[in-house]
Amino acid sequence: MAKQNQRTAPYTVPGLTTEDGHEVARTLQLRLHALNDLQLTLKHAHWNVVGPNFISVHEMLDPQIELVRGFVDELAERMATMGVAPSGLPGEIVKARTWDDYSVNRATGVEHLAALDLVYTGVVEDHREAIEKIGELDPITEDILIGQVKELELFQWFMRAHLESSSGDLRHGGATTELGAAESAAQ
Ligand SMILES: [Fe+2]
Repeated sequence: MAKQNQRTAPYTVPGLTTEDGHEVARTLQLRLHALNDLQLTLKHAHWNVVGPNFISVHEMLDPQIELVRGFVDELAERMATMGVAPSGLPGEIVKARTWDDYSVNRATGVEHLAALDLVYTGVVEDHREAIEKIGELDPITEDILIGQVKELELFQWFMRAHLESSSGDLRHGGATTELGAAESAAQ
């Protein structure tokens, strides 16, 4: 009898060994967790932004949330295509993640944008690391991640533009924590 409730299928995409295909897919799982976490974090900022820039920051976040939710779906379906069951379960995100929950609650637009800038740096750096690893095995999955990074970096620039002086300095430059970045941006 076939085994039930397995996390892997006996196949992967054509042109890769099953082992390599499953390894690529397993590497995607933490990226999937990161993007799932990111879309929730962006909603949290969308709900908790206060102050005179409320409406512009509140509204600029929603299209980005939709985009990131699309990325989540893209990675999950790529994993399934490659023969590994994707997980979107909250308990598994918390168990597997290598980062803490976003730490800013009620805060102004620039405070959230400065904190989110750090969040984006973390997600993009880890995506780039996955690109390095996956690129050796599967250019198709690599291409998916490259497309996502391009969009994430574009939105990071949108956020930074709110925090940048005409000389290019960021108000929160050098901050290493979300709360530290928010505090610097507030000044
Ligand atoms: Fe909303």
